[in-house]
Amino acid sequence: MYRRTMLLASLFALGMGSLSMAVMLETASIEDVMTKGHKRGGYRDVINAEVKKGSPDWSALQTAATDFKAIAGDLGKNKPPKGTEAAWKKACDEYLGFVNELDAAAQKKDKAKVQSALSKIAKTCQGCHNNHRP
Ligand code: HEC
Repeated sequence: MYRRTMLLASLFALGMGSLSMAVMLETASIEDVMTKGHKRGGYRDVINAEVKKGSPDWSALQTAATDFKAIAGDLGKNKPPKGTEAAWKKACDEYLGFVNELDAAAQKKDKAKVQSALSKIAKTCQGCHNNHRP
């Protein structure tokens, strides 16, 4: 975390272009995925709020879904802090599969499928935390 902060801080000095490149090249930590993906105001929250509306802001929803997909793909590149590697890989693949499903539904502006993907994602939290969250 400290190294990442230092790296980003020095790249920030070089300009926003370099910063976004660093973000793209670096693997997001588990904590990053969890907070950006799931905290209040995070990708899942934005998508949940939009899809409930009579006429969702599809552009905001699609951007959040695509960003969510990009960061969710990094989860399995991390080592699990607890539990076996095999169980971790399986849980990360399942989670990523549902996030991919969410993004595909968002790109098609399919409300029902966005909602069903969201509820599948919501069902992954507990199991993975039981096995892998310290
Ligand atoms: C594939 C595994 C996996 C899934 C699925 C998962 N999590 Fe996590 N989550 C973790 C692990 C592992 C940690 C602990 C990270 C650590 O402390 O090193 C964590 C930590 C967290 C944290 C604490 C982050 C912090 O600040 O340290 C939150 C909040 C969280 N998860 C929310 C969620 C929610 C909400 C869901 C479901 C929508 C979810 N997670 C699904 C693996 C997962």
